[in-house]
Amino acid sequence: MSHEISGFSKLSKVEKIEWIAKQYFSQPEEAISLVKNYWNTDEKLQQLHDEFIENTISNFYLPLGIAPNFNINGKNYTVPMVIEESSVVAAAAKSAKFWSKRGGFKTTVLNTEKIGQVHFIYKGEKSKLVDFFNQTKPKFYQETESITKNMQKRGGGILDIILNDKTAELENYYQLHATFETKDSMGANFINSCLEQFAKTLKQEAQSFQIFSEEEKNIEVVMSILSNYVTNCIVRAEVSCPIEELAEKQIENPKEFVEKFVRAVQIAQIEPYRAVTHNKGIMNGIDAVVLATGNDFRAVEAGAHAYASRNGKYRSLSHATIENGIFKFWLEIPLALGTVGGLTSLHPLVKLNLEILEKPSARELMQIVAAVGLAQNFAALRSLTTKGIQEGHMKMHINNILNQYHATAEERIKVAEYFKDNTISHASVAGFLEEIRK
Ligand code: MEV
Repeated sequence: MSHEISGFSKLSKVEKIEWIAKQYFSQPEEAISLVKNYWNTDEKLQQLHDEFIENTISNFYLPLGIAPNFNINGKNYTVPMVIEESSVVAAAAKSAKFWSKRGGFKTTVLNTEKIGQVHFIYKGEKSKLVDFFNQTKPKFYQETESITKNMQKRGGGILDIILNDKTAELENYYQLHATFETKDSMGANFINSCLEQFAKTLKQEAQSFQIFSEEEKNIEVVMSILSNYVTNCIVRAEVSCPIEELAEKQIENPKEFVEKFVRAVQIAQIEPYRAVTHNKGIMNGIDAVVLATGNDFRAVEAGAHAYASRNGKYRSLSHATIENGIFKFWLEIPLALGTVGGLTSLHPLVKLNLEILEKPSARELMQIVAAVGLAQNFAALRSLTTKGIQEGHMKMHINNILNQYHATAEERIKVAEYFKDNTISHASVAGFLEEIRK
């Protein structure tokens, strides 16, 4: 059967669900009832969520967890995290507590500049285009005044606009490369609005630029869009302590521990196959806070990985050294985040999460997010270089296995008891349940 349909978006929510149920399920009623089960009983709240996107049929839950005890620059934070992977929040909380007793996280925002570009084709003499750009530059600012007025009041705005010649890489390709300060907003709408106005100004002014030939006047704007590669919107998070202070129950020999740990980071510096997984571990923490605070995790992901390969090879975003008996572990990452605008004032749980974080500025949020990323990376490397990750991971995952087998409360107690001293795996838990169910 063909599943093509025209006018899907014009169907009501219930009609959409019914259409899907009929098309894809042998028991349509069951599918309909499952989808509806996830509707919020508060109609207003449901409507709010429905209107976030097009063609909403229901909600898709992810857990919201809490990692307490993050000491960042001497301030204590309780961090909300949205993630489905079972061990991530526990690992973040464990690292946070570990480092809170060893001086906490030290973070600094290195810069907060955002970037946007108007990509265009100009067929003509470069020197004339340069003259045109220099003459027109003030107009780019003037004609975006209605857009930039409020941002300027908040201390932000357009920082600079330059003309880039890209013709060596693509015939007749030039760009307006603009930099922005967007204060507490992520700035995507602001930047894109400015860029689209730059593009209009560019085309319009070219028409009346006397020394342009007819062909030169015909600038073709290909597109105007912000860049998610925010190379000058960087935050750094660091932990450090004398090696012997790393000692605790599970780290009996701190020197041995730390040397292996540093080697693990060095491997991620030179081996891309490892670096990607290493950075994925960092992003476990970063994305979870980015999501919880209503920010765009795809933008953060894209920028972070591009930054990891900025020197031509994909490398670890974190670094570790031992110098004069001091272990130092740090992370540098581009993070374009907002604490106003977008979802931050719309999604009730995002608002709640920002309150838990005591309404941070975007700069403060950058630092919290980076600290969580570093904590997550510390937890992963600590497990990987000691007992391996499966023990902790499976301990957290055991509930998922029990749920899958619809284990009763009594069975859960027996499983918990048995697996105190036995290795947890999907097969071993399933096998044990089968055994006790005989
Ligand atoms: C799993 O989600 C993340 C890790 O693979 C990260 C790492 O290997 O560093 C544990």
